[in-house]
Amino acid sequence: MCGIIGYTGHRPAIPAIVEGLRRLEYRGYDSAGVAYEEAQGLQVIRAEGKLGALDQKIAGLDTASSVCGIGHTRWATHGLPVERNAHPHMDGDCRFALVHNGIIENYAELKAELMAEGNVFHSETDTEVLVHIIAKGVDLTGDVRRGISWALSRIDGAYAFALLSREHPGKIWASRKASPLLMGIGTGENFLASDIPAFLPYTREVVFLDNGELVEIDAGSWQVFDAASLEPKAKEVRHISWDVQAAQKDGYKHFMLKEIFEQPKVIRDCLAGRIQKGRVVLPELDALEVPGRLTIVACGTSYHAGLWAKYLLESWARIPVQVEIASEFRYRDSVFLPGDLVLTISQSGETADTLAAIRIAREAGVPILGLCNVVGSSIARESDAVVYTQAGPEISVASTKAMCSQMVLLLLMTLTWGVRKGSLPDGALQRCLEDLPKLPEALERELPAIRDKARTLSQEYSDARSFFFLGRGQNFPMALEGALKLKEISYIHAEGYAAGEMKHGPIALIDPHFPTFAMALGDELLQKVASNLQEVQARGGRIIALVNPGAAPVVEDPWVLPDVWGPLKSFLVLPAVQLFAYEMAVYLGKDVDQPRNLAKSVTVE
Ligand code: F6R
Repeated sequence: MCGIIGYTGHRPAIPAIVEGLRRLEYRGYDSAGVAYEEAQGLQVIRAEGKLGALDQKIAGLDTASSVCGIGHTRWATHGLPVERNAHPHMDGDCRFALVHNGIIENYAELKAELMAEGNVFHSETDTEVLVHIIAKGVDLTGDVRRGISWALSRIDGAYAFALLSREHPGKIWASRKASPLLMGIGTGENFLASDIPAFLPYTREVVFLDNGELVEIDAGSWQVFDAASLEPKAKEVRHISWDVQAAQKDGYKHFMLKEIFEQPKVIRDCLAGRIQKGRVVLPELDALEVPGRLTIVACGTSYHAGLWAKYLLESWARIPVQVEIASEFRYRDSVFLPGDLVLTISQSGETADTLAAIRIAREAGVPILGLCNVVGSSIARESDAVVYTQAGPEISVASTKAMCSQMVLLLLMTLTWGVRKGSLPDGALQRCLEDLPKLPEALERELPAIRDKARTLSQEYSDARSFFFLGRGQNFPMALEGALKLKEISYIHAEGYAAGEMKHGPIALIDPHFPTFAMALGDELLQKVASNLQEVQARGGRIIALVNPGAAPVVEDPWVLPDVWGPLKSFLVLPAVQLFAYEMAVYLGKDVDQPRNLAKSVTVE
């Protein structure tokens, strides 16, 4: 949901900022802009559309002497995605330029007040209100830091912003509340950004900012203050191990494809150090009681990972589990019981609804475990314990490898709690510990063939306007995920359904033009799924079915996956549905990494 970046240092600012924006473009891409310092004052360049349009505008300008600036890539919340609404925004006297991620909830009221005082607005954004109110604060207090602090006391909502002042060359101010913001600490240069990859080519030393902090940086120094009291705050500089290559396409046509093919490595990284001497090593869980009941809260793909885990947790660890969509959970009046644990799952660690769920659990006194990918993210910091998923940076808007990593860790959690409760089925631990480490190699071997099959089938079915994805048991969440991936990047309508539920209504939609993608693998529910598929065929529906060698239902397009043990089957089903959606989107000429209307990190509700 919008990416922001700030740079101050010794190198030309604009190339570093535009490169950073390119790495943040997954957060929003309907318009982009930069502001930088020049002898004549602050310059602002903005363009509607993707970053390429901004690039073209900048290409004709001589910006080489500017060593301080800010940039923004937008996902529209207030106002159409047109140039006048693109960031940066300036105050009436062009003394300040500001980029912002978040939503200022009381912007209408503040705008009315500012207009009554003679301020003129040029956009429909809430952000323009923010820069005007800061300018007013600076006028009232005579100082930028104090002015920002005053302005923030008037603001309701979520924000991460960076601000340039014409009168203070080389300086950037920034603050955050409920939207991500971090600092990159370099040598003779410093960065601000919504996410680490933005400055990864220059530094891996990071300071994570907390809500209610205000920061002031220049080329050689940085200081953090409490935004309200302006008391200085000590902050830890953390070293990030992600490398630049991990945030690049590495020869793949799209980030999504690269990230799907990274799944074997992701599994290896998730398992590294976690299996020792026949035991699962998950010390992050040591301080927590085995939950009497588990509430998993997440959104989108992470929610599907939670649903997938429910089957295992209930069956192997005998823990009652409810899996909740965060945006619903946060406005329900949930009943908590002694012994409850809330587990939030999030790749980004910044999803607004999931964060809100954490706060609800905290108020109810329920312990919170976070499962997330981004070290130091808000969800990680607000949880009582965190398990990191080790998926590396996920850049493609459509989440792929993150779900794989979540599933590995959820499986390890199940084993840990199952061992502690003595509830694991005979042989399950041993089988998992033997077979899980073999999974990356099997997947590496199979992925090229899975991709080939996905390409052939997607072309064959590319005229379909709708799809059902059907599965039972752990393949039901896989069906939901397959449908989500297909609709999100190919814009083909798709519904994930529990196969047994079809006959309660949805089967009315089946005809020869409404195909079904089924998960009919060799598990204990195969016969039940096979019957459901017959019901579809009896109504003229065409079927693609993921099957294992041997006893498979007869369908138009069987897609044979090698058989692996028990719940590990899902680790082959997942790339199959991901690659089917990917190849379909490529064939239909869609923008795979940046699908329309979406942004990766959903930091607004
Ligand atoms: C789908 C997708 C989204 C995210 C959801 C949650 O491909 O990427 O559905 O899974 O926005 O995001 P996180 O996991 O960052 O909380």
